[in-house]
Amino acid sequence: MPMLLGALIFGYLLGSIPSGVLITRAAGVGDVRAIGSGNIGATNVLRTGRKGLAALTLIGDALKGALAVWIVGRFASDAALLAGLGAFLGHLYPVWLKFKGGKGVATYLGVLIAVAFPGALVFALVWIAVAVITRYSSLAALIAAVAVPIALAFYGDMRAAQLFTLLSILVLIKHRANISRLMSGQESKIGSKG
Ligand code: G3P
Repeated sequence: MPMLLGALIFGYLLGSIPSGVLITRAAGVGDVRAIGSGNIGATNVLRTGRKGLAALTLIGDALKGALAVWIVGRFASDAALLAGLGAFLGHLYPVWLKFKGGKGVATYLGVLIAVAFPGALVFALVWIAVAVITRYSSLAALIAAVAVPIALAFYGDMRAAQLFTLLSILVLIKHRANISRLMSGQESKIGSKG
């Protein structure tokens, strides 16, 4: 029990590191929370016009999810999924940002890479296909998040399917404003400054 709690807390603290805020500040472009959607993720960092910073944010946010699973998994494989859950919750509700975090997409992908790599391929393929067709990052993330638990269940990985059902529900909840904008035709497309 202490091990499981320790894994959750370790993952949470790692996931709480706000890559987008740190990277944009370090690059001197200000605080990403003050532009575009106000989100701390790579899609919003891209609205600064700095593709490299957006790529670094994506890598940083994904890496913290994957690292939480890999590090804990080396010591206690039973606790690895909890560490991933902790990292995801840390990104959504970071202690360092008064619990106002991001929408979780990159960290979701990082946890998925470490927990069930075939699921990460499904996520990436669905995300890219929807993003290329529609140019909406949020819609791509939403459809990929629906596809992943179904694919994991189909693949027979029920523990991962359960974890990612929970994570996908949280991704959907965190995208409430995006869903409203998509329905009213006001969502901004990838790379637009809005
Ligand atoms: O990954 C976040 C993306 O789905 C939406 O980001 O900034 O357009 O709300 P944003």
